[in-house]
This record gives sequence, C-alpha cells and structure tokens, in this order.
Amino acid sequence: MNSNTQGLPPTLSRFIRSRQSEYPEATGDFTSLLSAIALGGKLISRQINLAGLVEATGYTGRVNVQGEEVAKLDDWSNELFIDLLSETGLVCAIGSEELDRPVFPESGAESGKYVVSYDPVDGSSNIDVAAPIGTIFSIYPRKSPSGECSDADLLQPGRNQVAAGYILYGSSTIFCYTTGQGVHAFTLDQTMGEYHLTTPDLKFPEKSNVYSTNEGNSGTWLMPDRQWVNYVKENDPDTGRPYSARYIGALVADFHRILLKGGIFAYPGNTTNPEGKLRMLYECAPMAFVAEQAGGAATNGTTPILDLTPTGLHQRSPFYIGSKREVDLVGAFHGTT
Ligand code: AHG
Ligand code: MN
Ligand code: MN
Repeated sequence: MNSNTQGLPPTLSRFIRSRQSEYPEATGDFTSLLSAIALGGKLISRQINLAGLVEATGYTGRVNVQGEEVAKLDDWSNELFIDLLSETGLVCAIGSEELDRPVFPESGAESGKYVVSYDPVDGSSNIDVAAPIGTIFSIYPRKSPSGECSDADLLQPGRNQVAAGYILYGSSTIFCYTTGQGVHAFTLDQTMGEYHLTTPDLKFPEKSNVYSTNEGNSGTWLMPDRQWVNYVKENDPDTGRPYSARYIGALVADFHRILLKGGIFAYPGNTTNPEGKLRMLYECAPMAFVAEQAGGAATNGTTPILDLTPTGLHQRSPFYIGSKREVDLVGAFHGTT
C-alpha cells in the first residue's frame, strides 16, 4: 500500500478499508466495528495520560466476579466499550473481564453479526504507577441465527475468531491486530488523533532468549514449570542461556516486547490454582491468535490455546505464549514432543 500524503504511513482506517476488498463478503460493517474499538483506545489513552489529573487513578472499592479489586479505570473503560460497541448495532453479545454476565445489546439483537469479548484494562495494578497497561479484544462471528444471543455465542473455540488484537498504552500507544492475514501494528499520533501503520506483517524474530514470568510464584508451580525455569537460567552460552528476565506485570506490554524482540511469556498454574490466572476468552485466545499469525505459538502447556473451547466466561488457563521454539521447549517439559 502506498504511503499517505506528507510521507506519513497509512492511517488505521485507510489500511482497514484497503484490506476490506480482500474479503468478498465484506460490507464495511467489520471496518466500523474495528474503528469503534480503535476509538475506545484513543479515549483510554487520553484518560491515562491525564490519569492523576482527572481522578482516573485509584480503586472503586468494589471487587469483581474474579475476586479482584476494581480500579476506577477498569470501570470507566468497561462502560466506554459497552457504549461504543452497542452504538455500532453490529454486536449481539459482549463479554468482559469486568462483567459478571455478558451484555446482549438490544441494538444488535437482530442486526448484530459479531460477538466481542475484551479486557478493558489489562495490567490494572500498573495504572497508579504510570507503568504500561493495555486493552485486549476478540471478535467472533455470531452463532445463533437471530433473536437474542446467549452465552453459547461467546463460548467458541479460539480458532473461530475473525479478528483479535490489543492496544498497548506505553511510552507510545500501539494498536496491534490480526484478521488472520498477518499482524499489523499502528502507532497513535496523539496530536492528530490518528493511528498510523508502523509495522506491517509483524513476525517474531529468530533470536528468543528472554523469559517473562512472575517468578516470585515459582515455588508454588508444578514440577514441569519449575524445571523449565531452572533450565532457562542455567549457564550454557551455546544454547543462549541464561535467558534474560523481563516482567512488567501487564500481559499486553510483556507480550508486545516478546513479539518484537523474541522470547516467551508464561503464566503457569500452581498447586492451588492449576488453571493459573489468565482468562481464556479475553486474554489467552486473542493473544494466541496474534501470536500464531506472527509465526509464534500459544499453549496451555500441552494444547494450542486456539484449539480449546472455554466452558465459562471467566475460565482461566495456564498460558505460554511467544516464539514457537520457546513454547515448544516448555511443551517438552510438560511431556509433549
Ligand atoms: P488484569 O489487570 O486485566 O486483571 O490482568 C492482569 C494480568 C496480566 O496482565 C498480567 O500478566 C498478570 O495479571 C500479572 O499477574 P501477577 O501480578 O500475578 O504477576
Ligand atoms: Mn488482563
Ligand atoms: Mn483487566
């Protein structure tokens, strides 16, 4: 695609529109849906840049269905996405980390051909310390033919996703998505309010000796994960060990680094929580779609995340994602070949 005027790379909306013609059934609806999510990202980006000034830091005092404290920004961003998605009239079911039960917008009961799940603010504990956070989104086709959607529309295998991605609010704001035709990253120009294409067709690099995990928990991990983490720390320059450790505590930020620099992000299960911490629907599956499209992999230790069908809206899963070689290595410790 040619660059825009003034040597600027194409904007997100222009890029999506140009790709729309690649799908014979495309009507422009999908472009509108992605644009609504991208707008949410701009509004969150503005809100967090001013966080302390607009009272966007701190907690609501409530605990969500996952038993986690709800930050003010979690609530604000969750409502924002419900409004933006409902306004499109294209969405028949919405799942979110911050919703006990899905929302079935009336506006999309008949016309909504998509189902959207999201984590409005990923890495909430970073908000008050001005460290990176993110938004994760996942789009599925509707399953039920018409009328009101049900939970079944949300509980589809990851392979059914038609699009997924994340927005990283870091030293710059990055919108990164896939529709199954590669992974494309855009940088938000805050002065123009536009995302511009900065990295088309992102692929994990070959070099990959970085590991990203909350190693403070390793004493509670199961044996395969403990063996793996000990292995990557051994000194063996021929196999690139020891690996370097990087962990900021926001999946989006940790994953984005790995996507650009190579390596693996791991959130294993442990003896008391064998399913780990991260949620299938709005954390693991969308990031797994991005990873596979970038030539990487994502598993629960043994099975590709995209091959799993969640049985609950907030179902958790052990999660390993990154360069294929690194995810295979963890798999070897878990007894897969
Ligand atoms: P969220 O803020 O949406 O609840 O997600 C936090 C997740 C994820 O982003 C991150 O990788 C992980 O929790 C960090 O967990 P620990 O604090 O246990 O390391
Ligand atoms: Mn999260
Ligand atoms: Mn969250």
